[in-house]
Amino acid sequence: MKDITILAIESSCDETSASIVRNGKVLNNIVATQEVHQKYGGVIPELASRAHQQHIVPVVDQAMQEAGVKKEELSAIAFTRGPGLLGALLVGVSFAKSMALALDIPLIEVNHMQAHILAHFIGDRSPKFPFLCLTVSGGHTQIVLVKSHLEMEVIGKTLDDAVGEAFDKSAKLMGLPYPGGPLIDQFAKEGNPHAFAFPMGDIPALDYSFSGIKTAILYFLRDNLKKDPEFIEKNKADICASIQYTFIQILMRKLKRAAREYKINEIAVAGGVSANSGLRETLDQLSGELGWSVYFPDFQYCTDNAGMIAIAGHYKYLAKEFVGQDISPMPRMAL
Ligand code: KG4
Ligand code: ZN
Repeated sequence: MKDITILAIESSCDETSASIVRNGKVLNNIVATQEVHQKYGGVIPELASRAHQQHIVPVVDQAMQEAGVKKEELSAIAFTRGPGLLGALLVGVSFAKSMALALDIPLIEVNHMQAHILAHFIGDRSPKFPFLCLTVSGGHTQIVLVKSHLEMEVIGKTLDDAVGEAFDKSAKLMGLPYPGGPLIDQFAKEGNPHAFAFPMGDIPALDYSFSGIKTAILYFLRDNLKKDPEFIEKNKADICASIQYTFIQILMRKLKRAAREYKINEIAVAGGVSANSGLRETLDQLSGELGWSVYFPDFQYCTDNAGMIAIAGHYKYLAKEFVGQDISPMPRMAL
């Protein structure tokens, strides 16, 4: 049988990435991170779009060269259609369309959130269907019931902020640079998670909310800084550990409930926040206590990357799910 070789492109937020997958094996994952946003404390859409424009050709070239793949060998081109920033998506979508048109090969649209989940099928150890996936990123917090590679149902989601956003905003309140999630993780390792208590809130069903706790953290820091201007500096590790502990407890409460209600013990975690070491430890512990089998993608496939778009593209290629040249980005694309 002829090889299935797909070039995948990801440009939904602030990483420009390209990857080659051959017969379901992801050969590489080239990521150009945009440093330009750091000094603004968040992603600036216009700057993201310009940086994608600069990075996309070198990143695709590198992916093709390193994999030793010639343009003529490509079976299809997969790209992130959404969700994401319009101007950022537009760069990847336009690039993929032009290249597919020039090479006269099929185009495959990929949902970024579905791809985060399919990142679990890149390595050797993958969850068995049906499984639950806690998808936690800067833009999303969802519990997804995954029935097959391409059949997924969102059974719980955040009603306001995403947990990654809550990590980043808390870090910003503490004066830490963007993105603050990984920094909170790092400082939390030295701190006491029970040093400070924050309210967990109470949201019905399997949904989440992170806006209340964010406000509670804001008031907590403000009140303590009034008493002692060096409060954050003196208690950095304990504050980070306590914030992280609270976020993880909130996430676990609904995940446990979903596992009980759906009687599923195959539990996967995806998205940027799945890189969090506290979350990983807590889930490892729960796997022993509750008999769960827990799955995390490799670190490089946790945050935004084209490897996950490539594996999603592969499954969509097998299902012959192609799109035409009239396709456009979909910033609010749902799962
Ligand atoms: O999936 P992702 O790379 O981009 C989106 O699609 O949003 O997720 C980025 C988010 C950011 O909010 C970042 O702070 C968070 O993931 N993040 C972490 C860690 N690494 C990345 N949050 C907590 N601990 C980490 N180690
Ligand atoms: Zn993402």
